[in-house]
Amino acid sequence: MKGVKFLVAFVVLALASSFAFASDPSPLQDFCVALDDHYKNGVFVNGKFCKDPKLVTPDNFFFPGLNNPKNTSNPVGSTVKNVNVVQIPGLNTLGISLARIDYMPYGQNPPHIHPRASEILFVQEGTLYVGFVTSIPDNRVFTKVLNKGDVFVFPIGLIHFQFNIGKTNAVAFASLSSQNPGVITIANAVFGSNPPINPDVLASAFQLDQNVVKSLQAKFWWDNN
Ligand SMILES: *[C@@H]1O[C@H](CO)[C@@H](O)[C@H](O)[C@H]1NC(C)=O
Repeated sequence: MKGVKFLVAFVVLALASSFAFASDPSPLQDFCVALDDHYKNGVFVNGKFCKDPKLVTPDNFFFPGLNNPKNTSNPVGSTVKNVNVVQIPGLNTLGISLARIDYMPYGQNPPHIHPRASEILFVQEGTLYVGFVTSIPDNRVFTKVLNKGDVFVFPIGLIHFQFNIGKTNAVAFASLSSQNPGVITIANAVFGSNPPINPDVLASAFQLDQNVVKSLQAKFWWDNN
């Protein structure tokens, strides 16, 4: 009987701890600076292999130049500069990353999802209309106008956007709860997929005429990342 109780407690704890992984798993060492991908030799792990700690240098935790604005002359009028494990190998296993987003007047970071991260956004310059949408059944929209110094949160996995409604450029910095948050830009993924999704599927899903779907699929979908 004692054994059964122990087993039940063990299973409950095991389930609880698996539910607790809302984000990247915790590291088992001080750091695990990522090795270049070519060391993988076709073996894929959940994350990256660690460099020998004796060979790790301060530069493995460093990235310069995030003060520099990015060119926003593109179809969406914004550019995201990601600073994740690709740019800073020392972020491997640490569960955080950063991005700088520049917006021209009326530029936007179009509706997108980070499949692996929640986001907290800080406005350094300008005025942004931001929002996210909850899942089915409500699809409730949460929006806010943010000014310089304001902070807003986008929960993991939800569609969200930022739109520069000011007459000047805007700049925001975002922290994300993954070393590799990922981005799914909705329009690009749906209408700009490779190869294209069967237009019958999209015509019915979006309640559009097939010709409208085909013209959307023929467009060039700019990736602002
Ligand atoms: C920004 O990008 C556009 C389009 O690619 C280009 O024409 C323009 O020269 C760039 N501006 C700067 C300052 O680099």
